[in-house]
Amino acid sequence: MFQLKLKYLPLLIFLIGVFSGCQNENESTALLDAEIKTLIGKMTLDEKIGQMFQAADGFYSSEEELKKAVREGRVGSFLNIQGAERVAEIQRMAKEESRLGIPLLFGRDVIHGYRTIFPIPLGMASSWDTSMVKKAMRISAVEAASMGINWTFAPMIDITWDPRWGRIAETTGEDPFLTSQFTKAMVEGIQGDLNDPTALAACAKHFVGYGMAEAGRDYNTTYIPEPLLRNVHLKPFKAAQNAGALTFMSAFNDLNGVPTSGNEFTLKTILRDEWNYKGMVFSDWASIEEMISHGFASDKKHAAEIAVKAGIDMEMATTAYIENLKKLIEEGKISEELINERVANILRVKFQLGLFDKPVENTALSTDTILAGSHLAHARELARNSMVLLKNSHHILPLSKEIRSLAVIGPLADAPHDQMGTWVFDGNEEDSETPKTTFQNLLGNKLHYAAGLEYSRDKSKNGFIDALAAAGKSDAILFFAGEESILSGEANSRGIINLPGIQAELISELKKTGKPLILIVMAGRPLAIQQELEMADAVLYAWHPGTMAGPAIADLVFGDYSPTGKLPVTFVKGAGQIPFYHYRKNTGRPASKSDVIHIDDIPRNSKQLSLGFKSTHLDYGIEPLFPFGYGLSYTKFQYSNLKLSTKVLNSTSTISVSADVQNIGNFETDEIAQLYIRDRVGSITRPVKELKGFKKFRLMPGETKNVQFDIKPKDLEFFNGEKFVTEQGDFDVWIGPNSVDGLKGEFAFE
Ligand code: NOJ
Repeated sequence: MFQLKLKYLPLLIFLIGVFSGCQNENESTALLDAEIKTLIGKMTLDEKIGQMFQAADGFYSSEEELKKAVREGRVGSFLNIQGAERVAEIQRMAKEESRLGIPLLFGRDVIHGYRTIFPIPLGMASSWDTSMVKKAMRISAVEAASMGINWTFAPMIDITWDPRWGRIAETTGEDPFLTSQFTKAMVEGIQGDLNDPTALAACAKHFVGYGMAEAGRDYNTTYIPEPLLRNVHLKPFKAAQNAGALTFMSAFNDLNGVPTSGNEFTLKTILRDEWNYKGMVFSDWASIEEMISHGFASDKKHAAEIAVKAGIDMEMATTAYIENLKKLIEEGKISEELINERVANILRVKFQLGLFDKPVENTALSTDTILAGSHLAHARELARNSMVLLKNSHHILPLSKEIRSLAVIGPLADAPHDQMGTWVFDGNEEDSETPKTTFQNLLGNKLHYAAGLEYSRDKSKNGFIDALAAAGKSDAILFFAGEESILSGEANSRGIINLPGIQAELISELKKTGKPLILIVMAGRPLAIQQELEMADAVLYAWHPGTMAGPAIADLVFGDYSPTGKLPVTFVKGAGQIPFYHYRKNTGRPASKSDVIHIDDIPRNSKQLSLGFKSTHLDYGIEPLFPFGYGLSYTKFQYSNLKLSTKVLNSTSTISVSADVQNIGNFETDEIAQLYIRDRVGSITRPVKELKGFKKFRLMPGETKNVQFDIKPKDLEFFNGEKFVTEQGDFDVWIGPNSVDGLKGEFAFE
């Protein structure tokens, strides 16, 4: 009887939805809740606790042990088990041979592609193109689903202001608005239509504040005052909830003295009570047990108690829950009712994903989708759109396809694994097309290749001779600098963020040849490349572009397309400038360019107490290497004619802000126009610039388009320490090509 009801539940929910409209959304939710309650009513305590455990592949001593656990309902999800047939068999056993037939979740980190690898998320974000990114995540889901995965631990939506942090590669940058837009796109792309066999449950991670690790050292402590937490770090998570993300992952970090995997304020007060989030919340790997190391729990039992009370439904990989929850109930420390609440959240995801209903053998899925031509074409398009042109003296780029000879040099020119970037469990370096391969195919014997350095940290100058010889024979040099994928990503933080090794030395030798020197940087973070920037004639920042790095770079180098990417993070001149981000506050003593005195210009015997009492660095000054939103093109855009539909906004109105953008060069391409505001006076101080909108659009040479944004009172809202407010007063507004340039206007909110 029960099986019958479950079978028809999704259809019933669907029919109710179709025939009765919105009011019955509540009814279908109630129906689902009732179904979950009935199911929980049939579960033993052991089966409930089993649902709360996610076992990693290899947890059980043998496949037989694993199957026994599945049959006995001692596990709710697996992590890193894949292979369509193996997954189907385990799922079949869960559904047909366990007492209540509850299906399993199969989770895996599919972060920026499954086999077709897209640029690292920071690269994807440089496209400022949410539809392209949504499509990339859909493709990733389709490929992963064909291997039995039904849940991915993406998107990673932490905000960071620290390029030392290795996981900056996995973020979509420093800005809460931009990250929220990508969050929506990624969740929608991953989940698609939940009824479809290719739907994967998405996971918003890491809840919350993980990107503020002190000194950029992974897993480190974070202190985030509530206004900053709510105005910046929680924003993307709210966007994830709004986009329907089925799951949230808690983080590793200690937030304001309380580890995030046991943090009642964030997990319960905000997420459940305030936001009414109905999805499933699970721990990061071992993050429950790690509360012992944090000094917040005395032992595993205590850790389990803290986490389950705070709101963690499922434990990843470790055993604090399965070993202790029953004991905690027996000791009266927690109630079975609390366990029921946690299990309900887990079952809800399984119902919403249609796992009770979807056939185990997914005949609709075919592994032919893996590396499909259309997937690779999209990987190439997105990689091309993710690259940012930082310098292009004398229009050195694009190069003519008729070039007589070209040198391809550098440790990243032929690095098929490293070009894929961090988090590529399933990426295969044999699928990668490297720049060396592409340029060789295009130019044949006109191409002169020499690695120069075998890898980024290579200290040997043995390869310099060949590199200089290749350069000597060529009309131009493409130097592929950067860092390998292992230098970014989880736990891979750096204190020094320059180009590793002696790459700068080789670049300086190549510069001496007098040949046009084009630097292409492949990296997982914004590196401090000031000295290399000065030496190079052009710099293209390619991040780790993925499988199709070579073709995408060639598309831009030879001018089949213009670079369009813009930076989703500020580039610093050196690690000492960190943190530097556009959302910063003004201070009481802001410096202007004319206030800046450089350390070399201070008279030797200066007896002055200070050099102007302004907020600046004597060595770096007040500007970053490149500001947020920056990126050049093969054409030039001119912004003019800023117009505001009214100078006064009130609680019920909207201001339309517009500007003309003209392509004044001779290359057809896209521009990304950005909208910023500044709230001049607030009950707490407000940032100097807040991104509030962006639009990407194509312009033919000579063409002008009018770009228009709406500002509503809600866009001015912020958390002031007590509550969300929209305060009356004066605002600046800019439309421009990046966070420092642009046309400025002003309006008042009354
Ligand atoms: C730890 C990482 O922090 C998290 O992002 C990842 O999803 C899990 N490990 C599982 O691999």
